[in-house]
Amino acid sequence: MKTIFSGIQPSGTISIGNYLGALRHFVPMQEENQCFFCIVDQHAITVPQNQTELRKNIRSLAALYIACGIDPEKSTLFIQSEVPAHSQLAWIMQCTAYVGELERMTQYKDKSAGKEAVSAGLLTYPPLMVADILLYNTDIVPVGEDQKQHLELTRDLADRFNKRYREIFTIPEPRIPQQGARIMSLQDPLKKMSKSDANQKAFISMLDDAKAIEKKVKSAVTDSEGTVRYDVENKPGVANLLTIYSLFTGRSIQELEQAYEGKGYGEFKAGVAEAIIATLGPIQEKYNALMESEELDQILDNGAEQANRVARKTLQKVERAVGLGRKKR
Ligand code: TYM
Repeated sequence: MKTIFSGIQPSGTISIGNYLGALRHFVPMQEENQCFFCIVDQHAITVPQNQTELRKNIRSLAALYIACGIDPEKSTLFIQSEVPAHSQLAWIMQCTAYVGELERMTQYKDKSAGKEAVSAGLLTYPPLMVADILLYNTDIVPVGEDQKQHLELTRDLADRFNKRYREIFTIPEPRIPQQGARIMSLQDPLKKMSKSDANQKAFISMLDDAKAIEKKVKSAVTDSEGTVRYDVENKPGVANLLTIYSLFTGRSIQELEQAYEGKGYGEFKAGVAEAIIATLGPIQEKYNALMESEELDQILDNGAEQANRVARKTLQKVERAVGLGRKKR
């Protein structure tokens, strides 16, 4: 049995990118592993958030995790800020990391580009993520491709700490899917699809209704060639839609290319939209029922309790190894 950990930021309603690249893969992992899934609200405040929206998004993300198949009987589902050990270990990880290596993180470079002032938290975001993972003696971290660099840093810091103090941390491995690890924006297929994109048409949210999905897919940027062919280099828009179509239906890209041979983008896009709607419909139904029930708070209370129990133990070991505080009497 392995320990699995992953997190998603409640910085808006999650997109089909988050679902295809990460969340979907969490579900089968629950069967044979010990899983921790986290709503990383402290990461979300590294950029400005509206308080009311953030609170709403936290609850909503919890319900979406469950609606997508996370079973609270099998996995620990919890909110990061409800487990204080995350920010406590994050401080120790900030003291283990070098400023230079944090400045080299592409997510930091992207998010700070062109900004006059950015929060210090945007730079120290990765050590908090490192803490999230290391607190649970995690073996495997299922993520999309954009988190690969953060996982490399996690491994480096765990190793640096283990060598400097003592072997406490398990060195985790990323698990990045072969297909769908980087779903692209519908408006700019050279850019990653992001739930916080200012252009709503660039992403499909897990809570978009059928009409919105049809509209967004219809307006997705393609090319003027008019043939449905998988060619990332020359036809990134069509390649992205083919990937989405394939992942939502389980049909191979080759099979889809054949099915749409001689047909135009109109028909192809209608098929893509239909495939997305067919999966999202039942998820949304479950989501709506959960949001109306009181079950959700009970699940999150239990999750926080279980996570705190494990995290507190690791933190105690770490603080002892580092020499913080006093010896227990
Ligand atoms: P976040 O909230 O941006 O995204 C959550 C997960 O979705 C994946 N993802 C994508 N996959 C495919 N295509 C896309 N366009 C796409 N966009 C996002 C991400 O790779 C991620 O797996 N730093 C993390 C949250 C985090 C975390 C952690 C993850 C905090 N602590 C510990 C794992 C372990 C983030 O910003 O994810």
